[in-house]
Amino acid sequence: MNSLVIAIDGPAASGKGTLGRRIAATLGYAHLDTGGLYRAVALSTLRAGGDPGDAEAAAATARALSADAIGTLLADPGLRDDATGVGASKVAAVPAVRQALLEFQRAFAARPPGGAKGAVLDGRDIGTVICPDAPAKLFVTADVETRARRRFEELLGRGIPAIYAAVLEDMKDRDARDSQRAVAPLKPADDAFLLNTSALNANQAFDAAMTFIRSKPAFAGV
Ligand code: C5P
Repeated sequence: MNSLVIAIDGPAASGKGTLGRRIAATLGYAHLDTGGLYRAVALSTLRAGGDPGDAEAAAATARALSADAIGTLLADPGLRDDATGVGASKVAAVPAVRQALLEFQRAFAARPPGGAKGAVLDGRDIGTVICPDAPAKLFVTADVETRARRRFEELLGRGIPAIYAAVLEDMKDRDARDSQRAVAPLKPADDAFLLNTSALNANQAFDAAMTFIRSKPAFAGV
């Protein structure tokens, strides 16, 4: 039986990660935050003394990562550091890095760990490149000020000093890098459900997403 895949894409701090985790927990599916993979390549490159902006170094790191090594890096606290996030958006623009991570993502979708019946993958190109045949695709977004405000409050909540104006500028830069890059730019798949969470709380976003998923024949009765 084919695994049931839910593809969730969207810009930074759109709420897609929280939403993806909750959908996966509700349905008993496996969840993969694919941004973590690009962060893992950046972190591993940095730890080896390399520069994530160096395409050759990043590609060599990505090719050398085993599934076990990826698993270890995904649990590393350094994954969430700012430097790792900035490095991730640079390595993500390198075609050889994306190619090296493609099989890991497709294998996760086809054979979710733990024997789960389905998988939720969230990222930037899940519905367009990684799983174009996913029976449910969502594109989660929110206006840039709302996303910057959420990220700012999250940083303060974690005890990290932050300035709203700087967070907003970073968010705009990241949006520009993610949407304008030549390879797998951030864009909704033609058949994606557009979910703008600017005026929604987490529960409302979850309800809207589940209503859409359950409207798809493949997920009838879930
Ligand atoms: O979502 P997160 O901030 O963890 O992603 C880190 C970086 O990885 C993003 O800036 C984006 O450039 C990249 N990414 C990507 N494709 C994905 C997921 C993330 O290019 N599927």
